[in-house]
Amino acid sequence: MKRIAVLTSGGDAPGMNAAIRAVVRSSSYYNMEVYGVERGYIGLIGGDMHMLSRRTVSDTIQRGGTILRTARSDEFNTYEGRKKAAESLANNNVEGLVVIGGDGSLRGANDLYSDFGIKTVGIPGTIDNDLGYTDRTIGFDTAVNTAVNAINNLRDTMSSHERVVIVQVMGRHSGQIALHAGLAGGAEVILVPEHPVDFDEVASVLLRGAAVGKTSGIVVLAEGACPLDEAMKEIKARTGLSLRSTVLGYIQRGGSPSMEDRVLASRLGIRAVELLKENKGGLVVGIQGNDVIDLPIKDALAVKPRFDEKLFEQAKMLSL
Ligand code: F6P
Repeated sequence: MKRIAVLTSGGDAPGMNAAIRAVVRSSSYYNMEVYGVERGYIGLIGGDMHMLSRRTVSDTIQRGGTILRTARSDEFNTYEGRKKAAESLANNNVEGLVVIGGDGSLRGANDLYSDFGIKTVGIPGTIDNDLGYTDRTIGFDTAVNTAVNAINNLRDTMSSHERVVIVQVMGRHSGQIALHAGLAGGAEVILVPEHPVDFDEVASVLLRGAAVGKTSGIVVLAEGACPLDEAMKEIKARTGLSLRSTVLGYIQRGGSPSMEDRVLASRLGIRAVELLKENKGGLVVGIQGNDVIDLPIKDALAVKPRFDEKLFEQAKMLSL
């Protein structure tokens, strides 16, 4: 395989640039050319791609976001849209494609492979960490660190004013960010989509804390667990405590990637290129323990997103 392309798709994640850099630098090492596709599948359909060099990715490993930009494409969900994408690759003599993104993006990579035989390799890039086949997705570690830093700041002002704050974090339908940021942030309560919210239990934890002198508290709410205003209303009604709320939102999607995400992105980017060099496709790469793994995309997407029940219980144990 002499020429491949790389794109970023779906929600961006810190570390995507490190993955792009690894794809470009390892391709150069293996004497393969790389085209960068702008704005994910929208750019692929439109043929918006250009050669990348070792120099293009200089000074990018530390940058959040994606130098190739990203987008969500409805047209790509159609066979006709994917046909245009396959034609764009053929018109540019591109033989393989690296897709960096979440489950929707990886599904698209599998469709390109199964519909048109395009050799695709997916790299899991999403802050949600909601792909069950891999222990970590690129961006998760940085996003959780961002949330923990925000919780540290909130803890200062909540204790000054003797208040409880509900901090909403991202994660779509996953509670992974909430669980890890809540535990690392020392939260009293962590609410996740994986467990129905029991406001009576929440109230008893907060009131039990108040009874032993805790004059402030942190409740971490995963956006998929329940609406923020419902949590505010229900907790206020049951406790009478002084409540505030903060939505961390998109600050979790930016920022310079952590060492963990830079190393993960570099390892996965190299492996993706090596699979294409071996003329393999329809695969994803990931990490299990400390081992980089690869498997068919369709098998990977069939694995249910995991939730660490033991860690969730341990977080509760430490919050009392
Ligand atoms: O999938 C990553 C993510 O940040 C989710 O956590 C969040 O719910 C969603 O993207 C937001 O999507 P958008 O960037 O399209 O608003």
